[in-house]
Amino acid sequence: PYPMYQTMRQSQPVMHIESLDIWSVFRYADVKTVLSDHARFSSQYGRPPGVDESASEQARRRSTLITTDPPHHTDLRSLVNRAFTPRAVDALEPRIEEIANELLDKHAASGQIDFVKDFSYPLPVIVISELLGIPSEDRDRFKHWSDEIVASADQVLGNTDAKSDSAHQEMGAYFHEIIQERRKSPQSDLISALIEAEVDSERLTEEDILSFCWLLLVAGNETTTNLIGNAMLTLLEQPQQLALLRQNPALLSGAIEESLRYRSPVQAMFRMTTEDVEIAGHTIPAGKRVVAWIGSANRDEEKFAEPDQFDITRNPNPHIAFGHGIHFCLGAPLARLEARIALSTALERLQDVSRVADGPLEPARGFIVHGVTSLPLKFS
Ligand code: HEM
Repeated sequence: PYPMYQTMRQSQPVMHIESLDIWSVFRYADVKTVLSDHARFSSQYGRPPGVDESASEQARRRSTLITTDPPHHTDLRSLVNRAFTPRAVDALEPRIEEIANELLDKHAASGQIDFVKDFSYPLPVIVISELLGIPSEDRDRFKHWSDEIVASADQVLGNTDAKSDSAHQEMGAYFHEIIQERRKSPQSDLISALIEAEVDSERLTEEDILSFCWLLLVAGNETTTNLIGNAMLTLLEQPQQLALLRQNPALLSGAIEESLRYRSPVQAMFRMTTEDVEIAGHTIPAGKRVVAWIGSANRDEEKFAEPDQFDITRNPNPHIAFGHGIHFCLGAPLARLEARIALSTALERLQDVSRVADGPLEPARGFIVHGVTSLPLKFS
């Protein structure tokens, strides 16, 4: 998409698609404004006009962090922060290392691994389900639900999708049971912490907790898979950068940030205007959907020198791959930790690593998430 983004930044930085009545912004400064000016760009975007939203869909949207505005967003986020703490995330480090090693062990003898299917895809879902306290045998069901729901994010453009509706329902019923169980006998897991969380004598409702679990699976899995997969793919495409990283392991954090910028796992986020808004000389009327193209912002030549160069020593690197403002990704510390452990473990264990075959790779479904579904590698 990058040449297209560049053309848009230069010739149509604020674009209106008339047939869908959707606006798009492509420049870094405008994308940042749309993401962070929550008074004028609301996160409560429903289906487009003319497409009915079911009652359960409406309820879900009202109680989901990522689709609410202040003041409700402020309350929800501070409650969730009580449970999803940096300490809880840091405590996962040794376990993530173990999971990464176990996944690699299975392929050590053969000298071949599908880096996405066998490694970057299972890793985040195991981590999230352990964090939530979900039995490991249910993991495949989660992965299935979250994939269906992420793929259906294109619904925003008006496509309804029966598969994702049934995924929502199954997942709702599943979590209802777990929440009931944890209310009776709390464990040392995130669901129990969410039940217990209290701010100014307010607590999360069952609907809030359910929506949050749903959001973690949807927002935290495929995104992290793609961060790890995109980082590996780009390092293999750029052997000099890979060699530099192998010589200087301290550059790993820089390599992760640069991957987030260069191939942003989330390419776009939506907002809805609450009033007529002037942006870069265009007026977007009230009540319109706006797409903020993060993937384009992170390649904006006005913000980044040589934006199409992948440079793991880039500093500073003010990418907005995790968003900006009050909705800034809650899972960013976890995503960064998982990526750091996954890549350092993989680079250490996969020596002389290269792709099994050159040629095009299958892209992830949908236009919001950005990554590949399979990356076969050989190594010694
Ligand atoms: C929000 C990206 C991983 C949980 C966001 C937003 C972006 C984003 C762009 C802002 C949405 C907006 O402004 O409307 C990413 C990327 C990830 C990642 C690129 C991986 C590389 C995770 C993980 C979790 C997570 C691992 C949780 C375990 C969330 C939540 C929000 C969010 C709960 C909503 C925050 C709010 O609305 O206040 N993420 N995310 N994300 N992310 Fe992530």
